[in-house]
Amino acid sequence: MTRVPLISGNWKMNMNHFEAIQLVQKLGYALAKHDFEKVNVTVHPPFTDIRSVQTVIDADRMKFLLGAQNCHSEISGAFTGEVSPAMLSKMAVSYVIVGHSERRHLFSETNEDVASKAVAVYAQDMTPIVCVGETLEQRENGNAREIVETQVRGSLSGLKKNQLESLVVAYEPVWAIGTGVTASVDDAQGMCSHIRHVVESMQTGAGEAVRIQYGGSVKPSNATELMACDDIDGALVGGAALDSESFARIVMYQES
Ligand code: PGA
Repeated sequence: MTRVPLISGNWKMNMNHFEAIQLVQKLGYALAKHDFEKVNVTVHPPFTDIRSVQTVIDADRMKFLLGAQNCHSEISGAFTGEVSPAMLSKMAVSYVIVGHSERRHLFSETNEDVASKAVAVYAQDMTPIVCVGETLEQRENGNAREIVETQVRGSLSGLKKNQLESLVVAYEPVWAIGTGVTASVDDAQGMCSHIRHVVESMQTGAGEAVRIQYGGSVKPSNATELMACDDIDGALVGGAALDSESFARIVMYQES
């Protein structure tokens, strides 16, 4: 089975909509059509930028797929300040990050919350990128594999067979996010392989199909070796996604 790699730029709470337009245009100049032949590329701007970025992608016929960073699990209702997956889908969003560690830790999202968001994203014909990852303390205590397994099982618990196959899981060790410290290639590969086995144990055949990204201080200098690992099918990129040249070089990891 060949899994198409997925490189995703998570802009977090950066870029107003003017800056977002500039960034996506610069990315468009930095990448040629053939750069998208073997990889899928998503950009995940803040909610307020999505419509502007969508317009640029459409007008310039860019190959980027549009993503969001979060959504609510309900389709509409009295949830002040929240954004519904149906609203995202109407704006041609096709991938939604759910359960990012910043959401889990700063906004107290549980595996149950993440599971219902993943179901809601699929219900609108979009694909969730479900994030999992251990803290430094959990790793030092030797609990990393167990913690990640619990997150995978809990966060994917509501999904059907074909959804487990088309899913994206992002393994992001919390201690590697925004710190400049990347997991070693062996640690990243080892955990992504473990995640694949856990998904396979939930649904026969899904382990082989599921795409697993690594995230946490991915940059042009380490993308190629990470992406060469058997069980790493892509990267979820934060800081380096805010610089068009760096992100373009990560997308072109196969050419380095
Ligand atoms: P980073 O962030 O690349 O800045 O470490 C990754 C992420 O949080 O998705």
